[in-house]
Amino acid sequence: MLAIRLVSGPARPDTLVLPIRPEGPDGPAALVPTAAAPGGDVRAEAVALLPAARLTGAAGEVREHLRPGGTPARLWLLGVGAGDEHGWRVAGAALARAAKDETHITIALPEEATDALRGLAEGLLLGSYRYRLTEAGGTPALAEVDVVVGDPEALAPTLATARTTAEMTRLARDLTNTPSSTKNPEWFAAQVASAASGRADLHLRVRGPEELVAEGFGGILAVGGGSASGPRLVELDWRPAGARTHVVLVGKGITFDTGGISIKPVPAMKLMRKDMAGAAAVVAATLGAAALGLPVRVTTLAPLAENMVSGSAFRPGDIVRHYGGLTSESTNSDAEGRLVLADAMAYAVRELQPDLLIDLATLTGANAVALGKRHAALYSENDDLAADLLAAITAAGERAWRMPLADDYVEYLGSEIADLHSSPNRGAGSVVAALYLREFTGDLRDRWVHLDMSAPSWSDDVHGELVKGATGWGARGLLRWLATLG
Ligand code: BES
Ligand code: MN
Ligand code: ZN
Repeated sequence: MLAIRLVSGPARPDTLVLPIRPEGPDGPAALVPTAAAPGGDVRAEAVALLPAARLTGAAGEVREHLRPGGTPARLWLLGVGAGDEHGWRVAGAALARAAKDETHITIALPEEATDALRGLAEGLLLGSYRYRLTEAGGTPALAEVDVVVGDPEALAPTLATARTTAEMTRLARDLTNTPSSTKNPEWFAAQVASAASGRADLHLRVRGPEELVAEGFGGILAVGGGSASGPRLVELDWRPAGARTHVVLVGKGITFDTGGISIKPVPAMKLMRKDMAGAAAVVAATLGAAALGLPVRVTTLAPLAENMVSGSAFRPGDIVRHYGGLTSESTNSDAEGRLVLADAMAYAVRELQPDLLIDLATLTGANAVALGKRHAALYSENDDLAADLLAAITAAGERAWRMPLADDYVEYLGSEIADLHSSPNRGAGSVVAALYLREFTGDLRDRWVHLDMSAPSWSDDVHGELVKGATGWGARGLLRWLATLG
């Protein structure tokens, strides 16, 4: 990963980056005043360049100016938009991309640099992310970025937080991008174990098929039954001394979703290795909470299973008995996510009795139909909790939109032979799935949030700090929200 260093003045004479703000009421696009101003001639030169550079100052615009024989040898002008954390995050990502031939760059930050630094560092570290299984294509040249600020020491904690946030997001992306030939439930659990190892304050328990049978996790067992790679339930606990709030995070961990006997057509199946992005995000957020030493107890549950087609696969019409005893009639084996989540949520409510319950899942294609490709659907009966989480998600640079838990559809969840029908083919798909999950929240019903994040878990293009492939959606927003709890 890229090394970012805080310095109080430019130390190397190669490439100096100066921020530009857009045209506004105070005039055309202009240089943003920086903490340690570059030598007078360089600054004057940048000012003189501006009219010719055709910069609007929009976040992420980059112009290069060569200064043969000069110090610095190259001067870059970088649009930072509104100059807030978001603008700097987009600018940082663009900078990482533009610096494909540089090994080292220096960038000057404004006097008030906290938000700028957080955005810049996250943008650099997330925009330079690549997932590759081979060395072919080479590694990016950019290895070091010096960030010039007024008081490096005072900003060190901000940089550390940004770095942890980015590292955890990158971990979630790695897990989600990994091909399912490698990524079965056992492998995923082993990755969590290695990420948590060496930390005595993080407790991990992984239940295998026998324990799941013994304790009655019928949803996870049904969905995982068709695979040669048995299911797992990961329980990762960050329990700092003195924590007053206990949060349980649940993440859908389907390591591949064929749809099961209700098999998916080819186009719908091709990306189903990402169907564990919820599990990846909650694990990453929990490891992040531990790394930052956040004073809140976080227990993460990741029900892991591979939804396959085989002689031992569960069948449409089967009745599933969940942890705790509720039964579901399941007439579509492709609605598998809610079955594994139901077990984990029922377990959390009965055995862990947390203060708050949040679940993340690549649950429905309907998420994208309703909200497009970058917004998760957020459901909750608790307005304050919903607002707090939405605010944290937005501040972190992710997007979600609150959706209604419309009671009109509750009747569709009725079954003649079981407590619930898990896959009615009526109603708004993402809403109905949320209403089904609500049945497993028990007395945490109004302290629960469900995030259907199938759409934003993947990006088809380069966009701001997102690269093509897994986005790590949820890791940043959750970590930001956890940091607000005490
Ligand atoms: N994993 C899928 C949802 C999904 C679709 C995620 C597209 C990412 C992109 C989920 O298990 C699923 O198959 N959902 C069904 C539900 C239906 C059978 C009730 C769907 O959305 O079609
Ligand atoms: Mn499915
Ligand atoms: Zn699925």
